[in-house]
Amino acid sequence: MAATEKDIVVGLDLGSAGITVAVLRGGPLSKREVLGVGFSPSIGIDKGEIINTDDAVGSLQRAVADAELAAGVDISYVYASADVPGMQLRCASAQFKAGGGRDISRWKPQEIYRELYRQVLLPDYSVVQLTGIRYYIDGEPVKAPAAARPGNSLLVEALVIMAPTRSVEEKQKCLRQAGLKVKQAVAGPLAVAEAVLSGMERELGVVCVDIGAALTKVAYLNRGLVVDMGIFPVGGDHITADLAVGLRTTLEDAEAVKSKYGLSRVDGHIKVQAMSGAGHTVPGDLVYTVVQARVQEILEFIKGFIDSLHIDNSLPGGIVITGGGAMLPGLPELAGDYLAMPVRVGSSCLLPESVPEDEVYRYTTAVGLALWGARQGTAVRGARWGAESSILNRIRSWLSL
Ligand SMILES: Nc1ncnc2c1ncn2[C@@H]1O[C@H](COP(=O)(O)OP(=O)(O)OP(=O)(O)O)[C@@H](O)[C@H]1O
Ligand SMILES: [Mg+2]
Repeated sequence: MAATEKDIVVGLDLGSAGITVAVLRGGPLSKREVLGVGFSPSIGIDKGEIINTDDAVGSLQRAVADAELAAGVDISYVYASADVPGMQLRCASAQFKAGGGRDISRWKPQEIYRELYRQVLLPDYSVVQLTGIRYYIDGEPVKAPAAARPGNSLLVEALVIMAPTRSVEEKQKCLRQAGLKVKQAVAGPLAVAEAVLSGMERELGVVCVDIGAALTKVAYLNRGLVVDMGIFPVGGDHITADLAVGLRTTLEDAEAVKSKYGLSRVDGHIKVQAMSGAGHTVPGDLVYTVVQARVQEILEFIKGFIDSLHIDNSLPGGIVITGGGAMLPGLPELAGDYLAMPVRVGSSCLLPESVPEDEVYRYTTAVGLALWGARQGTAVRGARWGAESSILNRIRSWLSL
């Protein structure tokens, strides 16, 4: 029987290189499968930011139409990635006391969330996502305040993910103009973790790294929960650009050299096309020198993130890398040596066989977004806040689409 929009959950990733869509059949875990995917090169998006709305809308529509055709469904609701440079995660906590005839179980979620946002929301930033919420009544963990026993004080802890308001609004505008409704915006690193990590890795403690075209995103998970994340403005396209300059060649040739040799040691000389169109030769070891320098920068970001966790390099789940950048020949090995930890390359195993092997990496975030959505069910975390004040406007963020 053909799937309808009721049966499916759709993840949509606005990547710097490509917009990808994954249509997941929802329902019980064992029945989940990706029915179809869609892709369009990202025109109008640069380094995670919208630089031309009309072009970006066109790219979005092409990727969605591609997925609709592949999965045989109409798409209007999506779980969308919200990654932009400057995205940040902050831990927030707020305490609520009983009193004045009001029991603590009567605090409304909206009031609780608003207080959490008020604690950490930076000027000119909007809330992207609230996650990892934990409630304690008189110091005892409870599932939710409404279901809880009476007490004197309610402590709520959560992770608030926020991004510069201007960038968030640009992405919202594009999605709206493309005729899409966002069920929830999800930080890419959280979605990627959903797609590539095993339950055991999440429990033990693991760092998940997504090396994209323009951004490298990292998330640290422990005891099943996201603890921290970071986003750095460097990715695979920087390696291509460096090679184009270093080898005095076109971006197309630089891309081909990158994918072919990566971090391999190349003997002798290789032939590349000069900007003028003529061919010329360059020393093979120059490829390694150029690629290694940029990869080193990416690895330093990752190392800095791990150091900032203060976990004394204790990561029993190791490091899982994914994204197009992770396909660079030799990168997993160099990362393992540099970070002195086990590194494996992760990808989603839910994709249909029709997706060519060398394109699987593209869909990791989109699949993760759909899986995230399937896990949330219909309960969208956050609230449809009114626009009473500036802070509420910024909280309203994605849900008002
Ligand atoms: N085989 C390969 N070897 C090296 N690099 C590769 C390979 N395949 C793809 N890439 C690089 O991966 C990058 C694209 O990755 P990906 O699709 O994950 O990016 P994105 O999600 O669109 O970008 P971002 O996450 O930064 O917004 C490009 O820089 C591309 O050159
Ligand atoms: Mg990406």
